[in-house]
Amino acid sequence: MTKPKLQIALDSQNLAEALETVREVGDVVDILEVGTVLCLQDGMEPVRAIRALYPEKDILADTKCADAGGTVAKNCKNAGANIMTVICCATIPTMQAAKKEIDKLQVELYGDWTFEQAQQWMDIGIDEVVYHQSRDALLSGETWGEKDLKKIQKLIDMGFKVYATGGLDVNTLELFKGINVYAFIAGRGIAKAENPKQAAIDFKEKINEIF
Ligand code: 5RP
Repeated sequence: MTKPKLQIALDSQNLAEALETVREVGDVVDILEVGTVLCLQDGMEPVRAIRALYPEKDILADTKCADAGGTVAKNCKNAGANIMTVICCATIPTMQAAKKEIDKLQVELYGDWTFEQAQQWMDIGIDEVVYHQSRDALLSGETWGEKDLKKIQKLIDMGFKVYATGGLDVNTLELFKGINVYAFIAGRGIAKAENPKQAAIDFKEKINEIF
């Protein structure tokens, strides 16, 4: 079993706030994500700023792109991101167009999607998916459970690198024991902690303990 990576999702309301967080945790985490909320607020500016600070790190633009895949991917790449996301309901041509322009493309799993679709993504060379508990689902009482773990395991068995995210904290990680998750993505669990750097270290230590 490979040790899962840790990704910080910067879902801040503005660049200044994101920079404050990233300066604290950037050296602790493996992947820096400019979250959807921040992309919608400030466009690609945060990607440029964070790339300038971390020239060697993986930087993901969480665009959850649904259309114009090639253009959006080119914009992400030009700004300094090497990874971006498309939403699972995007068409195969949108995914293919995006994939041509960016180093790594991930499919964000929300709502209704099928394993037949997942096989189509794999067939066009996309082998990374983000398994999500959406913020809104969590707010309406949804929790992580066996149903999620089963789907994650099936995706792993199909050959996907699975990123797990949505309201994760250090204690939730225990649920994934024995499952070869590729990376955990934490936003508020790190950024909104009293001490974000310590929170990121705690996540890392928990990952080391469990896996
Ligand atoms: C929302 C996202 C979030 O960035 C991701 O789920 C992490 O957020 P949190 O840990 O705060 O739930 O992609 O669409």
